[in-house]
Amino acid sequence: MAILVTGGLGFIGSHTVIELLSSGYEVVIADNLSNSEISVLDKLKKLSNKTIAFYEIDVTDKDKLELIFLNHEIDGIIHFAGYKAVGESVVNPLSYYYNNLMSTISLAELASKYDVESFVFSSSATVYGDNVSPFKEDMPLLERTNPYGETKAMSERILSDYSKTEPTKKITLLRYFNPIGAHESGLIGEVPKGIPNNLMPYITQVASGKREKLFIFGNDYDTPDGTGVRDYIHVVDLARGHVAALKKAKQGINIYNLGTGIGVSVLELIHTFIEVNQVDIPYEIVERRPGDIAVSYADTSKAERELGFKTVKTVEDMVRDAWRFEKNLIK
Ligand code: WQD
Repeated sequence: MAILVTGGLGFIGSHTVIELLSSGYEVVIADNLSNSEISVLDKLKKLSNKTIAFYEIDVTDKDKLELIFLNHEIDGIIHFAGYKAVGESVVNPLSYYYNNLMSTISLAELASKYDVESFVFSSSATVYGDNVSPFKEDMPLLERTNPYGETKAMSERILSDYSKTEPTKKITLLRYFNPIGAHESGLIGEVPKGIPNNLMPYITQVASGKREKLFIFGNDYDTPDGTGVRDYIHVVDLARGHVAALKKAKQGINIYNLGTGIGVSVLELIHTFIEVNQVDIPYEIVERRPGDIAVSYADTSKAERELGFKTVKTVEDMVRDAWRFEKNLIK
């Protein structure tokens, strides 16, 4: 069973490749290296001790993409490739819409042409907008505050409409909460380009001395300590969620949250990091970040019931593994 993994050298993609290989799937990666490094491919081969077919292509380039379907018998697609920086999407909306939507459309067209049974799409909890947590898959989605989030909601819509035309295909939309952490080996993890937008990579860069201090975006939210609350999920658990989604995929369109169901505040995450890793994280409270919501965590019952998926890693595991990976980067 060959699975095409787009964006397979990226943060979530690379961890999912490891889980797929260890579950016996054959993997073909398509990645244009726009936000990943080719060195990750060797690390994946080393960690898995398996062969991995790799194509350096842009997933919006349908003609080149088609070569993969001609060269391999593709049974499933997991589509990770995409731009993902919220702030950048506000500055460059057209490139976000073009890239994130064209890739989804090209892949769906090829999935149809080559009769690919399963399609798993990387969606995001951001599609819920400022709903009341826990977020449930059947909630009406509220307005997104940036083009990045909109591309996720639009891709969901495109795939839902496609599903109506090919109802025997198994299409799964996975709504990720906040993936952090790294592989236990310390070999693969998150390597943001430039100044990190997300909390965890910023924390690890402060811990390593790359940045002077962390800025906490607001402590006047209606939460227990005033800082934002999120559902952080270990990237290895998230990767396992993809294997479960492939194995249990059902015909039609099926949507699942992938989170832990537990809300953790910014201050709680920082203090866990300090305690577990015994390093200092200087921080300063600043203004709220525009577009942020106070609380976001998942209702995990559908993924548990239908996919048999439950996270096993703790916040302690997440901060320990994230720090181990960052330390390896600076060695
Ligand atoms: C988490 C919390 C911040 C940085 C975004 C996207 C989402 C998904 C993941 C992409 C919030 C606070 C953060 C910092 C801080 N997409 N924070 N100081 O905003 O929940 O989700 O990234 O790949 O679609 O919206 O994640 O990690 O940016 O923020 O205080 O320097 O940390 O305000 O409460 P977010 P995040």
